[in-house]
Amino acid sequence: MQAVLVKSFGEADQLFLGQAPDPEVKDHQVLVRIKAAGVNRADTLQRRGMYPPPPGESEILGLEMAGEVVETGPGCERLKPGDKVFGILSGGGYAEYVALDEGLAMPIPEGMEFEQAAGMAEVFLTAHQALFWLGGLQPGENVLIHAGASGVGTAATQLAKLAGATVVVTASSQEKLDACHALGADVGINYKKEDFPARVMEATGNHGADVLIDFIAAPYYQRNLASLALDGRMVMLAFIGGYKLEKVDLRPMLNKRLTVKGTTLRSRSLEYRVKLSQEFIAKYSAKFTSGELKPVLDSVIPWSDVKAAHERIEANLNVGKIILRIS
Ligand SMILES: NC(=O)c1ccc[n+]([C@@H]2O[C@H](COP(=O)([O-])OP(=O)(O)OC[C@H]3O[C@@H](n4cnc5c(N)ncnc54)[C@H](OP(=O)(O)O)[C@@H]3O)[C@@H](O)[C@H]2O)c1
Repeated sequence: MQAVLVKSFGEADQLFLGQAPDPEVKDHQVLVRIKAAGVNRADTLQRRGMYPPPPGESEILGLEMAGEVVETGPGCERLKPGDKVFGILSGGGYAEYVALDEGLAMPIPEGMEFEQAAGMAEVFLTAHQALFWLGGLQPGENVLIHAGASGVGTAATQLAKLAGATVVVTASSQEKLDACHALGADVGINYKKEDFPARVMEATGNHGADVLIDFIAAPYYQRNLASLALDGRMVMLAFIGGYKLEKVDLRPMLNKRLTVKGTTLRSRSLEYRVKLSQEFIAKYSAKFTSGELKPVLDSVIPWSDVKAAHERIEANLNVGKIILRIS
């Protein structure tokens, strides 16, 4: 089959369309002909040699896709050839075919195109897990979502609003904040111009954020502690700004009884990822069909131009998801 391959670890010009062996379909797996794949920042790290796939998983880039089931392996019970599915992968999304566990392959919500579905799994599952499984977000609580216009940020904003939370987001420009407001964000903070902890306190009547979704890490750590409410919970999903802390005053951790959790979805067990996928599709599929939730597409780029897709996400130009159209 054709797949996007990496000549040697480095810049986006190392990506090329080449030949790779067809995936083998194991027990409880389905073989999917991929129509479109989501581009994730993690793919750019893997391309640079900084985020290797878990042992035994495909070396091909790509953490999510949408496509059509063409074969079912022994033990499959729910899906059949012709079914339209989307889902997270441990790798292998930038290719014509991928084999994945049947439990990870979610039926595409009615009325949705492959290109819309292709970028949903990674960001919506991450957002659902971070807000509710790890952050314990409750209706009426305040949530602060950094990188509000990112893929995960746009998904988290919609899910938090649906759950009845007040949503405060940060982003680097008015254009990005406008996009966040259009998705339901109550308060937008331009972190380049404003002091975000002060604005969070102002926006929440001095209460602070009950849940905080962070990707920036070290440069934000102290200010995140200042933004959290009593009994606040912070979920860390990335180290975009750096991972080494210096001179942090930890007193708010005790004084405010804070909880900090970190996670990576890719390293979770298959059982965990299947449970998350199945809960997600059961809870939200109809909301996508009704339009209450929507995938946020930044752009659709043919996979022959995968270099442009990687350059765009690395330049922080995207609002929502960049999608690769496969074949
Ligand atoms: N742990 C997990 O399980 C998990 C799962 C999925 C994704 N992730 C990670 O979560 C992050 C977001 O993913 P995504 O695909 O949604 O991202 P994305 O669409 O690539 O957006 C990331 C945004 O972060 C902001 N940003 C970049 N550098 C920054 C800095 N130094 N300070 C402040 N903001 C900065 C930029 O927005 P502005 O222009 O507003 O600054 C950028 O557009 C990625 O790092 C990804 O690897 C983790």
